[in-house]
Amino acid sequence: MIGKKIEEAILKQIQVEEQSSRIYMAMASWCEVNGFPGAAKFLFTHSDEERMHMTKLINYLNDKGGYARLKDLDAPEYKFKSLLDIFDQVLKHEEFVTASINKLFEIAFGEKDFTTSQFLQWYIEEQIEEESMFKGILDKFRLVGEQTGGLFHLDKELEALANAGPKEEFL
Ligand code: FEO
Repeated sequence: MIGKKIEEAILKQIQVEEQSSRIYMAMASWCEVNGFPGAAKFLFTHSDEERMHMTKLINYLNDKGGYARLKDLDAPEYKFKSLLDIFDQVLKHEEFVTASINKLFEIAFGEKDFTTSQFLQWYIEEQIEEESMFKGILDKFRLVGEQTGGLFHLDKELEALANAGPKEEFL
């Protein structure tokens, strides 16, 4: 049976992952109405990935004798200055998610719940990959600036990345 303290911490992480899914969905919608179909596809796909992160936590908690209940979510931001602004916010958000996962790991380890600590390794690695991918994307956006041609190509690259699946490197 999973401890109450860890159950509460996992419930909080479920909320973080679900909120992440909404944030990326809102960003994808902005991209779709602002002429960036590739970035929209990429962010819709990423929103789905966050849902998968959430579901994995729900399944784990229920499997270990807890009960995954969903918490309230905030309305996501829907006004953005540019595509660069969006990806800048994505990276910052992922850094927040990483800190949240690390905190959860610290709690599980502190409680000597080594099964949960082991389970969380997957999330720790996932965060390393995600931060690295978004840093790569952001570097490209900074290089291109506001040049229409460059943005068009980056949009195409993001579409290719979405089509290639979640684990491809952006280079
Ligand atoms: Fe579930 Fe992008 O972190």
